[in-house]
Amino acid sequence: MKNIYSNIYKPTNNNLSKAKVVIEKGGVVAIPTETVYGLAANAYNTRAVKKIFSLKKRPSNNPLIIHFKNIKQIKKEAVINKNFLRLVKRFSPGPLTYVLKKKSGSRISKIANKGLATLAVRIPSEKNTIKLLHILKCPLAAPSANRSKSLSPTTAKHVAEEFGNSIRMIIDGGACKIGIESTVIDLTTKPKILREGGLSSEVIGKFLKIRLSEKQNKIIKSPGQIGLHYSPGMPIYMNREKATKDGALITFGKKNYSNQNTFNLSTGGNLKEAAKNFFNTLRIIKNKKFKSISVNKIPNKDLGKAINERLRRAAYYE
Ligand code: TXA
Ligand code: MG
Repeated sequence: MKNIYSNIYKPTNNNLSKAKVVIEKGGVVAIPTETVYGLAANAYNTRAVKKIFSLKKRPSNNPLIIHFKNIKQIKKEAVINKNFLRLVKRFSPGPLTYVLKKKSGSRISKIANKGLATLAVRIPSEKNTIKLLHILKCPLAAPSANRSKSLSPTTAKHVAEEFGNSIRMIIDGGACKIGIESTVIDLTTKPKILREGGLSSEVIGKFLKIRLSEKQNKIIKSPGQIGLHYSPGMPIYMNREKATKDGALITFGKKNYSNQNTFNLSTGGNLKEAAKNFFNTLRIIKNKKFKSISVNKIPNKDLGKAINERLRRAAYYE
């Protein structure tokens, strides 16, 4: 069956080679990752990186995550340290992004990290994107493949809904296994979580045998962590048991109501499953043109923290 979007490509070796050519010529390609889809360009090429910002309408003060194939490639661009080596060996490839000092000789475009002294680096685990990184000679700068402030995409079709044909290629790796963005950890000082995400901060804290501070830093270390974000474009009410008039209700755990307006994140009360369904559920509700979203209380532990962080940001404008 032919896809209605002509820029969605199956991840065949032939299509990955085509993506390589587009990227080498300074173009932008949407890539699958285990967290969410990314909008990727050659991280060394300033002109290419600028295209990402203009496509997303991303505020120019918000730096991008750089995606690498392995530790060796990261070492060329960033100053590594003990905590990085411990974490990367345990959790990468996977949904964890490390903020490190940028190396003075690094070729990563200053536009990608907004001229900061630091670089956010990650090794994704999605197999097609790993293949692509291996046939490329450059790392990939890639934010989530959505318009700025909007819902993050977890399928190739979501990316097409966001950008239509303004992106040359969207590589279809199927639905993202984790479904929310990577956890961002600052390793330039005492480890600090800058963004809750696909790897629970509790798991990281236990592994490092430290208590990771949950207080917001006074200096904004991660500019992407302020203001409205992840928005379905309607009011969101947290900790609710009922929908408003013309509103949708998102439930969690075993519930007896089965109305047309009710959407369950995980009937078994599993937070990993809830995270995987999270953005897709918000997008379904948005497309059905409900007027608001009420959400059951989501336990604030494990991946529930990342879900709650996103809900709070999405509800910001109230
Ligand atoms: O899972 C993910 O991380 C996805 C996939 C595509 O890899 N990417 C993603 O990128 O979520 P984006 O641009 O939507 O979010 C990047 C976050 C922002 O909060 C940004 O401020 C922060 O990482 N960030 C990037 N570089 C940073 C740096 N040098 N220091 C502190 N925070 C940084
Ligand atoms: Mg994003």
